[in-house]
Amino acid sequence: MKITAAITGVGSYVPDYVLTNQELETLVDTTDEWILSRTGIKERHILKGENQGTSVMGIKAVKQLLAKTGNKAEDIDLLICATTTPDLVFPATANIISAAVGATKAFSFDMQAACSGFMYALATGSQFIATGTYKKVVVVGADKMSSIIDYTDRATCIIFGDGAGAVLLEPNTEGLGLLDQELHSDGNGEQYLHQKAGGSRRPPSADTVAHREHYVYQEGAAVFKFAVKNMADVAAQVSERNGLSADTIDWLVPHQANKRIIDATAHRVGIGPEKVMLNIHKYGNTTNGTIPLCLSDYEQQLRKGDNLIIAAFGGGFTWGALYLKWAYDPKPDPRTA
Ligand code: UT7
Repeated sequence: MKITAAITGVGSYVPDYVLTNQELETLVDTTDEWILSRTGIKERHILKGENQGTSVMGIKAVKQLLAKTGNKAEDIDLLICATTTPDLVFPATANIISAAVGATKAFSFDMQAACSGFMYALATGSQFIATGTYKKVVVVGADKMSSIIDYTDRATCIIFGDGAGAVLLEPNTEGLGLLDQELHSDGNGEQYLHQKAGGSRRPPSADTVAHREHYVYQEGAAVFKFAVKNMADVAAQVSERNGLSADTIDWLVPHQANKRIIDATAHRVGIGPEKVMLNIHKYGNTTNGTIPLCLSDYEQQLRKGDNLIIAAFGGGFTWGALYLKWAYDPKPDPRTA
């Protein structure tokens, strides 16, 4: 019997502090009206405080996931953390999360594919399930984007926020779970979206700090054009080759980078806004957090057998789409039941 990897639970976490468009108006030359009309974002959550890394949010998301699904941390076989803002260059944030939640048996590693990281990690983790190698794989998407954002640069500081989500993957033999994938990358995209210093090419120095090279550098309009084309194309390609149409797609789960990119992708696959998961207004672009945060926010509306198209585009460039059939009906949360 064919084994597929199905998502069997979702957890998430966003920090308490809310950075509104109104507060950004006091930091840079911008307006609430410009941000909302050009991006769809009203506010984003920011992780404040000393010594608070991405793992803080990942740990909370995984703990919630385990509590909701009634799983024990020691039963996790593998934990992958997709992040672009790891706590440290090494060790991996996934190792830090595993230790903190008590996933003593799990091996764990980070995955770096910018905004497509969670999607890549979901596809990667699924292979370990589909081959029968492992039974419980946790995939975390988490970023503290505020740690690499220049709050004097109005073209980037308005977009990004902090947050995390996590899903559990388990074997399924009913034909549910991840059914198809189309993943791409093109390193020629580096010039449009990168962080200049902090890696091995340009290690941190007084000079790199003075030149503000530890922040996200983005040529927004160029990235926008690539994102609209590639995310829409690949979502349409995966839908078509699986015989899915506007009627049979139940949900589009798009990376939340800009509402105009999301609208273009939905238009290309021919579906209306009622089938598009959207929470960019609340969280902004949380990079690896966007897709699991969508699944978490919409979990109560998802039904067993629903057809989901997940699509993302990000730095690298990286992009792709997944087709998955949702594997469970909403269930009461054991933490509150
Ligand atoms: O998730 C990873 C991948 N990233 C993305 O997918 C992001 C893709 N890009 C975008 O979402 C958009 O390009 C942005 C939201 C970043 C920018 O929107 P845009 O409509 O592409 O603006 P633009 O960069 O073409 O700039 C248009 C104008 C410029 O002014 P001038 O030169 O025409 O006078 C900018 O200086 O808008 C100005 N501008 C702003 N004005 C008010 C840029 N940022 C702001 C701002 N407030 N925050």
